[in-house]
Amino acid sequence: MTSDLEEIRKQAEAEIAGAASEESLLEIRTRYLGRKGLLTGLLRTISTVPQAERPAFGQRLNEVKDALDERIEDALQRVLSTDRDQALLKEQIDVTLPGRAVLPGRLHPITRVRQEIYSIFSGLGFSIVEGPEVETDYYNFEALNIPKDHPARDMQDTFYVEGNVVLRTHTSPVQVRTMERMKPPVRILSPGRVYRPDSDVSHTPMFHQVEGLLVDRHITLGDLKGVLTSFLTQFFGEDTALRFRPSFFPFTEPSAEVDIRCVMCRGAGCRVCGQSGWLEILGSGMVDPEVFKNVGYDPEEVTGFAFGLGVERMTMLKYGISDIRLFFENDWRFLEQFR
Ligand code: FA5
Ligand code: MG
Repeated sequence: MTSDLEEIRKQAEAEIAGAASEESLLEIRTRYLGRKGLLTGLLRTISTVPQAERPAFGQRLNEVKDALDERIEDALQRVLSTDRDQALLKEQIDVTLPGRAVLPGRLHPITRVRQEIYSIFSGLGFSIVEGPEVETDYYNFEALNIPKDHPARDMQDTFYVEGNVVLRTHTSPVQVRTMERMKPPVRILSPGRVYRPDSDVSHTPMFHQVEGLLVDRHITLGDLKGVLTSFLTQFFGEDTALRFRPSFFPFTEPSAEVDIRCVMCRGAGCRVCGQSGWLEILGSGMVDPEVFKNVGYDPEEVTGFAFGLGVERMTMLKYGISDIRLFFENDWRFLEQFR
């Protein structure tokens, strides 16, 4: 009987050593140690063992059972940990693969250009002042020497809110508001949205202007030309073709509009510049004495110049954009080109 037991033990040990999976080990355990297993079967034959040998046989049988049980446990630990290693190997992440790029946001071209304009003018000593977009007729027109029913009102089509309240058609009302509360010298830049019922490839109903105003003693047209030329060559580059063209604004005298050579056709004439070869970018002039009187400045004491430029127009010229409406469509294929 004991030899049977030792045979079974050896065979079980060999099978355990050769088992490669949890499944086969559990099967071995059932086959040898289970209720109907081989060792349990041997225990039932104990009655055939001579009386004297029974205690030793029983003891040995228990030892073998415990030993096999322990081996199976160890083997289970072994296969389970190799299974885990295999799984980890299979799930391995290749850290050398290229990543998926996250598209970073970037500033809208109008914002970038506005910031660039601020930085050039802050270098020239101007500081920023803002005013309301919903404005009274007085600040938008009358204080700027544009009385009611005057033909000059036709220069700027207007959205009326109600009665004497309008959406400002330009940033010039901020000049008046600033001079009302500040004594000269004044050197300000006023950016913001303005509104006009206009719409085509170079006009939109809402656009951005930047107003400039400089008032002090002895300011001349030469200062106006010098400041604007310095600004425009910093913004567009030294070799930019500019022209100061005599013009009319009720709030400046004399007045000039500044044109830049059309960047789309380089002066040959195209749809964007209306075949003229030039594009108007800003209006300017020496502050009219009437405006000084309206804010309580003495025109015999001080002089000054003012200008108002279109930010979209500047951006189109700088980047060669042929349709102003692209700025407001939020098409990322357009926007992502401005890095
Ligand atoms: C004015 O608005 C005057 N306030 C400018 C000024 C200020 C003159 C101070 C003298 C002293 P104007 O209407 O020309 O002027 O407009 C100025 C600029 O705004 C134009 O040169 C153009 O670049 C831009 N602009 C005008 N209308 C539109 C529009 N609908 N869409 C986009 N840009 C426009
Ligand atoms: Mg104009």
